[in-house]
Order: sequence, then structure tokens, then C-alpha cells
Amino acid sequence: MPYQRRLSPARARPPFHNLRSADAPLLGITMSMDDQTGRERIVSGHERPEDDVNIALRPQTLAEYDVGQRQLIDNLRVSIDAARGRDDVLEHILFDGPPGLGKTTLAHIIANEMGSEIHRTSGPALERASDLVGILTNLGRGDVLFIDEIHRLPRVVEEYLYSAMEDFRIDFVVDSGPYAKSIPLHLEQFTLVGATTRAGMLTGPMRERFGIFHHIDFYTPEQLEKIAQRSALLLEIKMTPDGCEEIARRARGTARIVNRLLRRVRDFAQVMGDGSITVEMAQAALSQMGVDAMGLDDLDRKYMVTIVDYYQGGPAGLNALAATLAEDEGTLENVVEPYLLKLGYVIRTPRGRQVTARAYEHLGYPAPEGGEKDDPSLRMDFQ
Ligand SMILES: Nc1ncnc2c1ncn2[C@@H]1O[C@H](COP(=O)(O)OP(=O)(O)OP(=O)(O)O)[C@@H](O)[C@H]1O
Ligand SMILES: [Mg+2]
Repeated sequence: MPYQRRLSPARARPPFHNLRSADAPLLGITMSMDDQTGRERIVSGHERPEDDVNIALRPQTLAEYDVGQRQLIDNLRVSIDAARGRDDVLEHILFDGPPGLGKTTLAHIIANEMGSEIHRTSGPALERASDLVGILTNLGRGDVLFIDEIHRLPRVVEEYLYSAMEDFRIDFVVDSGPYAKSIPLHLEQFTLVGATTRAGMLTGPMRERFGIFHHIDFYTPEQLEKIAQRSALLLEIKMTPDGCEEIARRARGTARIVNRLLRRVRDFAQVMGDGSITVEMAQAALSQMGVDAMGLDDLDRKYMVTIVDYYQGGPAGLNALAATLAEDEGTLENVVEPYLLKLGYVIRTPRGRQVTARAYEHLGYPAPEGGEKDDPSLRMDFQ
């Protein structure tokens, strides 16, 4: 029975300095719950109230956003310049990628660069087709309609959107039964910018209606350093280059997390030092918060340790893992796994999840007997 297996001494857990929430106030650190996981995760890519700072860190233009994602920036630049040159309306755009990488920011930038207005809503907020009608009829020519979490649009609303996107018209049905009347409404040409963390959950017809599709990938540590430097400048934080590098490396490729860690380390540095961020200060602060050298937290490590201890390194099925960890499958799949896959610590195989030799090394465990079980031919993906 896997549940009864004990840790062998060789697999004793490495000493992580995890900060419990009870200790946090001593350090002037506030920890709050992650909406998705319901647990305290400073390294969550999801937005949290504390991410709202007085000074807006959101870049306003493509030039400000540009930290070196060449393909994305260059393609958007061409689309925007071409539409503007023709005095035309920009095609519908879909952004897909993990939370906190800049999808909402890009929607604002597009409206800004096109000199148009942005109207924001989200999939779950549009419950009925009538919710959408009011929004659509209020759009001016060239306006951006930003629908966040577009994969969560109810099917009836989604079907309504099809003709709005394609022909810029909708048929509004009033009354019901024998008195039902369909009134055609003509709309101004607009640009729909959709954002999703789960492109795979979009229906085919919805996906086909977007002219432009961009997958936003995790940032490299160097790109995150640039974001941290810019934010530090705006927030008037003093930071050494190696302090910046340390924060960027632990930010899991995510812009939102790098900004959050920067502010937390600044608080720590203020209480423990003179407020400026050095590499020692960054290391001490982040270790105290349970964020390790690669940006992994308790849940990430528990996930990998469970595969090693209970499933001999894997493969382990997602549902079995979720049951062993007492976690929700969706949380593991959408919140924990993407970055571990990105780091190459975990791979998905047709038979389940498997940890790699790199993960053993990171966890401080001896390499698995008989070498790594990682067989590249078994990989299903490598996000
Ligand atoms: N290229 C960038 N340069 C500087 N800051 C950035 C960049 N991209 C994103 N950010 C910052 O990251 C934060 C998160 O970005 P944003 O809200 O656009 O993410 P998102 O992809 O919409 O996330 P979600 O899926 O949770 O809605 C923003 O506050 C923004 O300031
Ligand atoms: Mg967003």
C-alpha cells in the first residue's frame, strides 16, 4: 500500500526553511490565500489583491512591454501598424498562456496603440446572451472588447458571439414562444481580444474566428530581470544586479510573480536592513518565504516528493497523485505542473507523470537506481 510506505533514511527530506503563516507577521510579511488553490502561495501566478499597487506597473505601450519576446512583439507590431496604415480595424486576437504573463496587459496595450477604447469582461461574467448584447451595442468602431477566461463562456453566449465576430451583427430575440421576435442589430466593427489559460478548452468554431493567435510563453530569467529593474525604478527600490538576478531566477518565469517577490523582498530589506536589495537579502527573504532557489514552494516539492516516495519516481496517474496529495486534480494540472514541466523536472507520459533526474538533484535525493527512467520517446509534451 503506497499510503503506508515510509521514507527510507537515504530519502530523508532536505532541510527547507519554510515560513509558516504564523511566523509571517514577525517579519512584516503578509501572506494571503491563493484563490485557485485556497492555500498560501507566494509563487502563484494568479492575481491577488496585494498585486494592486499604487503605482501601476503595467506597461502601457509595446515598447515598454518589450523585454525580448521577439516573435510576439514583432508580429503584434506588424498587425497594429498594418491596421493603422489602412485605417482598418485590427483582427480578433487570442492570447493563450499561463496566468500572470501579460495577457490582460497586452489587451490594454493593443487598445492604447490603436488609439481605441477597451471594454473589459470575462467568460464567467457573461451568463446570458443578453449580458453580451448591452456590451456589444456599446462598442465604437475599432474598440477592443477584452474577454478574459474566454474558455469559460457559457455555450449560448459563445454562439451569440460567433455572428458578432464574423459579420458584426447579432439577432436579438425578444419575447418567447409565439410572440418571439428576432431583431437584427448591426454592430460597429470591433476587435475581440480573448485571453485564456486553457486554449485546449476552446471550441473549434471559437478558435477559428480569431485571425491572430499568440501563445505567451514563460519569461526567461534575463527577461524577468528587465521587468524587475523597471518595476524597481518605478517603485524607487534600490537593488544590486545580483539581488535582481536572484529574484528573477526564483520568479517561475512569471511577470506577476517577479513583481510580487520584488515587493516582498523590499519589505524584508526594510525591516532587516536599510531597504536596499542585495543578493544576501533576497536569498534570506525568499528562503524565509519558502521559495527555493528555483522558485519552487512547498506544494511543488511535495508533488515531486510524492511521485518519488509513493510511486518510485513514476509514472503516476494524475488522479492517483491528487488523491495521495489530497489536492484537486485541476490545481495540480494548471497551477503546479506547468512550471515543473517547463523546468524539465517532471514529464508527462501516456502512463502518467514522471520525475526526471534533474528533479532528484533539485530535491537533494540520490539519483534513482538504474539511472533515469526518462525515455524521451514516451514524452507527450514539453511545454
Ligand atoms: N512584459 C512585461 N513587462 C513588465 N511587466 C509585465 C510584463 N508582462 C506582464 N507584466 C506585469 O505582470 C502583471 C501580470 O500581467 P497580466 O495581468 O497582464 O497577466 P495575465 O496574463 O492577464 O494574467 P491572468 O491570466 O491571471 O489574467 C502585470 O501587473 C504587469 O505589470
Ligand atoms: Mg489577466
